Amino acid sequence: MSSRRKLPIGVFDSGVGGLTVVRALMERLPFEDIVYFGDTARVPYGIKSIPTIEHFTGQITDFLLDRGVKMLVVACNTMAAVAAHVVKSRAGDIPVLDVIDAGAGAAVAASRSGTIGVIGTPTTVNSNAYARRMHAIDPDIRVFSQACPLFVPLVEEGWLEHEVTRLTAREYLKPVLAEEVDTLVLGCTHYPLLKPLLQDVSGPDIRLVDSAITTAELAAARLASLELANPGHAPAHYAFHVTDIPLRFQTIGERFLGRSLSHLSKVDW
Ligand code: DGL
Repeated sequence: MSSRRKLPIGVFDSGVGGLTVVRALMERLPFEDIVYFGDTARVPYGIKSIPTIEHFTGQITDFLLDRGVKMLVVACNTMAAVAAHVVKSRAGDIPVLDVIDAGAGAAVAASRSGTIGVIGTPTTVNSNAYARRMHAIDPDIRVFSQACPLFVPLVEEGWLEHEVTRLTAREYLKPVLAEEVDTLVLGCTHYPLLKPLLQDVSGPDIRLVDSAITTAELAAARLASLELANPGHAPAHYAFHVTDIPLRFQTIGERFLGRSLSHLSKVDW
């Protein structure tokens, strides 16, 4: 068990977006090594069919298990929504946690009225995964969801405070806010970067649940309870594997990670 504690945490996403989760993990667990996989050649997943996402998720899970990880974190909401079972079936005794478990739990805990909004990719919203996991905690919770497909390209464009993004957000949030939700789950890797704008559009009384931060909290709690936390205090090692390194990858990646991005390698499979 003691040697297992020193293994890295495996984190994966359909592309760069999962770096928001890595960023939260680096802040919450500064002594944990992380190996990240981003499927930048095949992103976006949020508009793909479930069998395709299941197939890709299986490949990525095997890649990270082969690298020897002590925990798997599904950072992509879309994969967590429709393919969490694929990860769990391959992981054996390696603990698996995902952004939807973390975000659903945090939203139910945060909401006073029991009326919660969820925004995400079309696949995540159509899957109803957030509502199902919230209802498993509290069957009386009312959930209103809205797909926001334009947010991913707007964030990658860096239009975090742009007027076009503000107008788009107003349009998307209108039906959810009309239901008088008191909590809004940012159910996509990209949305934490829009937090200030979304708070502005939603109003100060709505609590935004950032599933990157809640996932890092859940990972810390799970490592502690399983006695898998790294006892050392040496600087952590990070490795980033991606399936393509497109133009502007470095700039976009660093925006998500909030720091410089090194130890990047392209996977050939
Ligand atoms: N990572 C995806 C998610 O969190 C967003 C990007 C995509 O559609 O692949 O849902």
